[in-house]
Amino acid sequence: MPARSKRLDNIPPYLFAEMSRIKAEMRAKGEDIIDLGIGDPDQPTPTHIIEALCKEAHNPATHTYDESPRGWRPYLDAAARWYQKTYGVALDAGTEMLEVIGSKEGLAHLVWAYVDEGDCVIVPNPGYPVYRMHSVMAGGRIYDAELKRENGFLPVLEDIPSEAAKNAKLFFVCYPNNPTGAVATADFYRDAVRFCQDYDILLVNDMAYGTVTYDGYVSPTALQQEGGKDVCIEFHSLSKMFNMTGWRIAFAAGNPDAIATLGKLKDNIDSKQFAAIAGTGGFALENCDNSATFKLYEKRRDILCDGLNDIGWRINRPKATFYIWAKVPRGYTSAGFASHLLQNAKVLCIPGNGYGSAGEGYVRMSLTVKGDRDGEMMCEAVRRIAACSIDFSA
Ligand SMILES: Cc1ncc(COP(=O)(O)O)c(C=O)c1O
Repeated sequence: MPARSKRLDNIPPYLFAEMSRIKAEMRAKGEDIIDLGIGDPDQPTPTHIIEALCKEAHNPATHTYDESPRGWRPYLDAAARWYQKTYGVALDAGTEMLEVIGSKEGLAHLVWAYVDEGDCVIVPNPGYPVYRMHSVMAGGRIYDAELKRENGFLPVLEDIPSEAAKNAKLFFVCYPNNPTGAVATADFYRDAVRFCQDYDILLVNDMAYGTVTYDGYVSPTALQQEGGKDVCIEFHSLSKMFNMTGWRIAFAAGNPDAIATLGKLKDNIDSKQFAAIAGTGGFALENCDNSATFKLYEKRRDILCDGLNDIGWRINRPKATFYIWAKVPRGYTSAGFASHLLQNAKVLCIPGNGYGSAGEGYVRMSLTVKGDRDGEMMCEAVRRIAACSIDFSA
């Protein structure tokens, strides 16, 4: 076989591919593992969405290549109405929106649409690995915007050296945040928009968890801020919104040039998502209420956070996302502690350094545990961790 490309050699194996391998190995040995690893909704897609797909799939118009410029128009129209209703911002479905095959695909290709060798990309650390890996493969220079607990896991704009900012093409942010569970304020977005205006940077706001919220919390968006559309592209996904991770449907919204640029690249790569799935996505956005799933996550969050706090592990209760980002006890590394929990409690969580060097010292636990009906597996996870008699005192 020929050698693989050098650019692929420059990146490690995909984090979750590695975790899936370890999990499969342990399960093959008969271990009973509670999997708080990958964040993938364990609840099925709501039935009326599946029924809508059956109807859409009977429409022969969905069976051919979708030759529209930006994606299946009924989907984009529905997404524009949803955005207006949810966030109060009007979007033109023809020029300010783009269908993408999951936000992972859109985020990855955005990098290839913008980044040349040597261009700077501002990437959150810790952060969803896709921003960094594609920027590295494209030959970009990474500026690590560290997300620190004392700053609410928001990047500090004043800390970004002007040299990096002047050379930056993209600035990735993600709120509600994976992996920290942090949320952004409208003020943060306002300042980030100004920063990107000053330095001529495209602000990329990944809102994959925008609707996975608790206690009545509603996330602000970058596009709500004055000048937002001048400098921002936002990604919204139906994956976590409606338990549709396998369906691969999301959309980008925002600056028309950025939308056209990403669209031009994608025209040369894919032929869009199956239109019946896109059409069903539009139906879901306008007709589906998935709050029962979020209530279940909320219950699990409370059981896990209360239970772990009761045994001395200081855990913050996130307002959004299905992630608990927890400091590991003194004396452990992220990987060492995750391994300790896996070996001794048979509880799988993700070492924080898998999301970047600044994730060292943390582990991430996901609330999307498969097989759980009403929080009982969270109780069991707490029981097992408690039985390990770990010293959580700082
Ligand atoms: C922060 C973040 N962005 C984007 C995605 C990709 O989601 P999808 O491609 O399913 O829309 C994920 C998936 O876990 C994520 O955590």
